[in-house]
Amino acid sequence: MNDQYSVLGEAPNTSQLKSLASNQPHITIEGLNAGYGKMEILHEVNLYAQKGQSLCLIGPNGAGKSTILHSIYGFTNIFNGKISIEGKDVTNFSPAEKLKSVGVAYILQDNSVFPDMTVEENLLMGGYIKENVSESYEEAEKIFEKYDRLKQRRNQPAKVLSGGERRLLEISRALVMKPSVLLVDEPSIGLEPRYIDMVFEILGDLQKNENKTIVLVEQNAKKGLEFADIGYVLTSGKVVLAGKGDDLLADPNVGRLFLGG
Ligand SMILES: Nc1ncnc2c1ncn2[C@@H]1O[C@H](COP(=O)(O)OP(=O)(O)OP(=O)(O)O)[C@@H](O)[C@H]1O
Ligand SMILES: [Mg+2]
Repeated sequence: MNDQYSVLGEAPNTSQLKSLASNQPHITIEGLNAGYGKMEILHEVNLYAQKGQSLCLIGPNGAGKSTILHSIYGFTNIFNGKISIEGKDVTNFSPAEKLKSVGVAYILQDNSVFPDMTVEENLLMGGYIKENVSESYEEAEKIFEKYDRLKQRRNQPAKVLSGGERRLLEISRALVMKPSVLLVDEPSIGLEPRYIDMVFEILGDLQKNENKTIVLVEQNAKKGLEFADIGYVLTSGKVVLAGKGDDLLADPNVGRLFLGG
């Protein structure tokens, strides 16, 4: 561990981590060593999140935050350890298998919408994996009922959307598959402040009203920890601290290292 992070103290043990998830984890990661190619990025990572809970990963650039999301989704090489969701071992499932069997959605960022396709077509792309196309239409209709901003523009090309509306479309597209877990990497990146609040409101709504389990990475650690029930601090591929979001916000070392305080 880098010296500056040693002030964070001893790494949390698994029983502490489990209790943050009320000992009823929906997502469980145990002893995970994972990376890209032969390179190991994550070392002995444990993580637990309860159903309907939000967990925010914070830490310096290159710590492995996105790699945790990639591992849950199925984009990394897993050398050791286990990932389970709803009690099912999904360690070696492909992203498509995970989406179908336990409902894991990864919300892509940075302009992943197709600019020349309409808003509706973009939304329906979210259901590409569904065998029954009419279900995608039904889900898309529900999303339009919920988000009038998208409904008003359903037949317009996605390129006319504002940055915030585009992020809304990216999130909504993942919802077409009715996932139980949302993996969200830096939802606020590149957005104006008013849109950032909108995105967190939408995530909060999905968590509270639809009981989605959310694992997010947020560069804006203050926003992320204010939003999330629990936070994990990651440095050099290891979990070095974990706690309730509010407790981490109040921790002076976390403040100095990650909150610019
Ligand atoms: N596709 C990849 N192939 C090889 N190495 C990768 C790949 N993606 C990330 N890495 C490496 O893994 C390490 C962790 O990267 P990761 O993207 O998980 O960090 P992060 O904590 O999300 O950082 P940031 O805050 O900058 O997004 C880095 O050293 C990075 O270079
Ligand atoms: Mg990242």
